[in-house]
Amino acid sequence: MSDSILTTKDLRKSYGDFEAVKGISFSVLRGEIFSLLGPNGAGKTTTISMLSCLLEPSGGTAVIDNHTIPQESTQVRQVIGIVPQEIALYEELTARQNLTFWGHMYDMGGKALKTRIDEVLEQVNLTDRADDKVKSFSGGMKRRINIAAGLLHKPQLLFMDEPTVGIDPQSRRRILDMVKELRDQGMTVLYTTHYMEEAEELSDRVGIIDNGKLIALGTQDELKKLVGKQETLRLHFGEGHQANGDATLFTQIDGVLTTTAVNDQLVLSVNQATAVLPGVVAQASSLGLQIRSIDIEEPNLEAVFLHLTGRGLRDG
Ligand SMILES: Nc1ncnc2c1ncn2[C@@H]1O[C@H](COP(=O)(O)OP(=O)(O)OP(=O)(O)O)[C@@H](O)[C@H]1O
Ligand SMILES: [Mg+2]
Repeated sequence: MSDSILTTKDLRKSYGDFEAVKGISFSVLRGEIFSLLGPNGAGKTTTISMLSCLLEPSGGTAVIDNHTIPQESTQVRQVIGIVPQEIALYEELTARQNLTFWGHMYDMGGKALKTRIDEVLEQVNLTDRADDKVKSFSGGMKRRINIAAGLLHKPQLLFMDEPTVGIDPQSRRRILDMVKELRDQGMTVLYTTHYMEEAEELSDRVGIIDNGKLIALGTQDELKKLVGKQETLRLHFGEGHQANGDATLFTQIDGVLTTTAVNDQLVLSVNQATAVLPGVVAQASSLGLQIRSIDIEEPNLEAVFLHLTGRGLRDG
């Protein structure tokens, strides 16, 4: 199962003079969960929109299941399912009516559509709310109906664009479990997120995207190797404190490799956290800085992003 269902080469998109996607090349293998991990504005939605044939690329190529985008968009649409970042549902219609509408968009109808709607409602755990108006749903339930709509025509490849943003923890849990179930049933998933934890939990492989460029790509182990054996020491000073001015004051400590300020936190790359901890605490105290808490982290995808960009995934 190592052949690709999707391959892009030097894919680009400009909005006027601004190039939002600056030549992206990657493949998604059949049966895997591939995450595009990147901060706000990185170009995730623009990339997904081009691959979903909703937005014409300005350059480069993309092929899905041997069909070229955008020339063979009709065939591509049969293969892909889309769960867009913005929820698209009719509030005054019930869940079932919304799904019927989407089914018609995919040329489905009759008894086959009815049966399939029952199946996808079951899959997203909303059978008991099927005949309630969507306006009575929580954000998480709306998301799940959106996912159900994307699954209606049994796509081989599902695009999910930040499907857990702004929803309750229970719905989030359910969605993450569902993504893994879909993969286990043989579906391929291209998942975008700016949550490091989600990319870590879900992904077989990860592409890290920043400022319209793919800056790293590989399995999680491959990406973490980019950071080496370093550990991360994260000092929290508490809200209201801007750590920017403190960064250089900690680089002089023996064993501290790099120091980055991320909002109210100072993130230190170190060889061995326990060895440098006393020096770090002493330095903070001599500077009159109050440390609220300290985390010691093994290499993770956040550390990879920090290592590659000098910024955190969520520092604006
Ligand atoms: N229609 C548009 N016109 C002009 N600029 C746009 C348009 N859509 C997106 N952009 C810009 O392109 C860049 C990439 O946007 P995109 O929505 O693809 O990012 P994203 O990674 O999906 O971000 P988010 O995590 O916030 O959803 C941003 O700088 C954005 O402001
Ligand atoms: Mg987006």
